[in-house]
Amino acid sequence: MNVLLIGNGGREHAIAYKLSESKSLKKLYIIPGNPGTASCGENVNLKTDKDIILSFCKDKNIDLVVIGPEQPLVDGLSDFLLENGFKVFGPSAKASQIEGDKVFSKNLMKKYKIPTAAFEVFKREEKAKAEEYIRNSKFPLVLKAYGLAAGKGVLICNNFKEAVNGLKLIFEENAFGDAGEKIVIEEFMQGEEASVFAITDGNDFITLPAAQDHKRIYDNDEGKNTGGMGSYAPAPVITEELQKEINDTVILPTLKAMEAEGCKFSGCLYCGLMITTEGPKVVEFNCRFGDPEAQVVLPILQGDFLKLLISAAEGKLDKSQYKYENKSAVCVVAASAGYPDLYKKGYEITGLEKKLNNIIVFQAGTKSEGDKIVTSGGRVLGITAVCDENNIPKCKIMAYEAIKNINFEGMQFRSDISDKALKHLK
Ligand code: AMP
Ligand code: GLY
Repeated sequence: MNVLLIGNGGREHAIAYKLSESKSLKKLYIIPGNPGTASCGENVNLKTDKDIILSFCKDKNIDLVVIGPEQPLVDGLSDFLLENGFKVFGPSAKASQIEGDKVFSKNLMKKYKIPTAAFEVFKREEKAKAEEYIRNSKFPLVLKAYGLAAGKGVLICNNFKEAVNGLKLIFEENAFGDAGEKIVIEEFMQGEEASVFAITDGNDFITLPAAQDHKRIYDNDEGKNTGGMGSYAPAPVITEELQKEINDTVILPTLKAMEAEGCKFSGCLYCGLMITTEGPKVVEFNCRFGDPEAQVVLPILQGDFLKLLISAAEGKLDKSQYKYENKSAVCVVAASAGYPDLYKKGYEITGLEKKLNNIIVFQAGTKSEGDKIVTSGGRVLGITAVCDENNIPKCKIMAYEAIKNINFEGMQFRSDISDKALKHLK
């Protein structure tokens, strides 16, 4: 099969890597890709404009299009290619609202009794009403811009003053642009987080091994929220029993709800969960694989990934293509100095050529400049160690050993990725 993958981040490098292992793959193209994906297929430097992609698919006889990031999904790329006769792994624009519109997803969960934090919605013109609501709330309290905000639209407010400042930031200073036209104000949930991916054709689904992201910039979950500074899988917080509960109380009801609402979801449903004392609750849904969770979940899968994805796209999920046999992985993100605030780009990255056993260096914010690879984003690399056994502590040692070989000016990374797993492993 000829496959086209859309995107250029660390997640897309992980997807490209996994697709390139598939025996059923003939040729993989990535639009636009990055220097990392170039080792898994052919990068094609085209704009991700719908018509340009369609003519590329026709030209190259593409059998499956895999859409990595949320923006093109929310913009309807999947619908457009489907209407033109191509198979796509990735939901329709209507189904992608589950990520693109938090008011939609919170109301869906409320209507169908899917466990999540209690919430209220306020429009920009209702700022006074929102302030009144905050005055009568308990803290911490969570403010969320309703639209896509590159993972930055969430404010955790510890007191009234912080919450009022948050309202001002979103509604008056317009910090998240149109994504802040409405906000969701929700209850703060206590617990440990986990990310579960369901691969689904809309009816049937399989869940991949659970992962855990590390959102804050510094060790011990301190400092600002980022796109994710590291991950590991499988996350032992999700026991077999909990996984079953998540399937029954979150994933299945959500797929049924989406169908009932006329927006059947096919693709990868990302469930961001909080494991509370009352059981698993949804923090957020995403309409695609997580980043950097894909970097640890995909390398530990066996089975033909391409066949799995195309079966979901064809509406007849082939569960036999999914196998997980006790592997594990840890990914440490190397980020630019200053990230998640302002940072400089263009620094040469050294040490990438050194190939180490069971280490995959996924590239995220990189670009080629002559014969060098230089930094071009906040999160630059995801150094991933993979073990043939379920041994997170061993993966952690391997990943941190590997990162010593890599350097670029100002490189920063957390030193505690996967430590939360330890307390479950004792
Ligand atoms: P989101 O973009 O919705 O995943 O939110 C980003 C991060 O904020 C999450 O991964 C959580 O760490 C935190 N968060 C969001 N909503 C809540 C909540 N209701 N309670 C506690 N933490 C939350
Ligand atoms: N790792 C969080 C996300 O992909 O949204």
